[in-house]
Amino acid sequence: MQVCNCNDVEYDEIKDAVAKHGSDIEIIKEETSAGTACECCLEEDCDMVDLPLPLAIKKAVEELA
Ligand code: FES
Repeated sequence: MQVCNCNDVEYDEIKDAVAKHGSDIEIIKEETSAGTACECCLEEDCDMVDLPLPLAIKKAVEELA
C-alpha cells in the first residue's frame, strides 16, 4: 500500500518507523522521506496515493496498540 508516490514509500515502512520512533509526523517524514517532495500525501484527501501519510500513521498507531 503506497503512502508517498514521490519517494515511493510503502505503508510497511511507515509502520516500522512508527514502531521505532512514535507517531510524530515530522519525525516520520525525516525517517522515511514520505511527504518531503510535492507534499500531496500530507493531505488526507490526496488522491495520488493509496493511504496518505496522516492516515497511515493513524493506522499504524492502531495496529501497534
Ligand atoms: S506524494 Fe508524497 S511528497 Fe509527493
